Amino acid sequence: MKRMPLAYEKPFFYDKAFEWDCTNEVDFYEECFRQFSRIDVRRILEPGCGSGRITNEIVKRGYMYYGYDLSAEMIRFAIRKHQGLKNIRFFIGDMKEFIPPVKCDAAINTITTFSYIIKDRDILSHLKSIKESLNPGGLYIIDFSYFHNTFEDGINEWEFTIDERPYNAIYKLDKADMKNMTQTESFTVLNSEGGTEIKSKHIKRLWIFNDFIQMVSSLKGIELCGYFSSDNYKRLTEKEARESKDNIIHILRFA
Ligand SMILES: C[S@@+](CC[C@H](N)C(=O)[O-])C[C@H]1O[C@@H](n2cnc3c(N)ncnc32)[C@H](O)[C@@H]1O
Repeated sequence: MKRMPLAYEKPFFYDKAFEWDCTNEVDFYEECFRQFSRIDVRRILEPGCGSGRITNEIVKRGYMYYGYDLSAEMIRFAIRKHQGLKNIRFFIGDMKEFIPPVKCDAAINTITTFSYIIKDRDILSHLKSIKESLNPGGLYIIDFSYFHNTFEDGINEWEFTIDERPYNAIYKLDKADMKNMTQTESFTVLNSEGGTEIKSKHIKRLWIFNDFIQMVSSLKGIELCGYFSSDNYKRLTEKEARESKDNIIHILRFA
């Protein structure tokens, strides 16, 4: 089994660091279902679901939730965290190939999880497995960012608390490798005494706008319906999406 970044082998800190209110985020997904989906959405699939950051908000609204992740620790943590709640299924699975036991109506890939698939053939295989996982007319909502040849904005730092103790989370872009089309990022959690709780290295796909468009258009039966900023959920033109340094939410629809 592939070795996971440390942050995903120790889900406790990941879960706390990313435990932000996701009401607006899930409102946005529902708005996408209304605007773009050709089918009624009842079952939602989340590839790379981690500890289930959005799971509760989704089932609260009446959907059935299916989440999978490559990290067994994340899935064990997610199952414990949601114990006693109905309409939730978690699985261990790889985005390259996983297909849930029932067809879903929409899939959501959040906070650059999609970029953990690095090679072209694995990305194509992922998109095919999502197509097979969804009913025809269903959406795949994917949130990731493009490389902009600058690392000046490549650091994201925030505070969170665990039992009223303060911690600092730091997400940093460290290195771009244009030959292999990868970028290396680090995720660090510091405690209030300056001690390091987690320092985790993440290798991700370095995405260029045209590469994504080309890959999607090389597959039959996928339509790119639109782009949104993941900062404020504003709709973007293709030009704005191409130039934006924010994470971009892409809306794909399968025939
Ligand atoms: C940034 S976290 C996002 C988790 C969750 N989607 C969220 O919004 O909090 C990325 C997750 O992707 C998972 N992951 C990385 N590569 C994967 C793969 N090939 N297949 C499935 N999950 C993967 C990691 O274990 C981690 O839990």
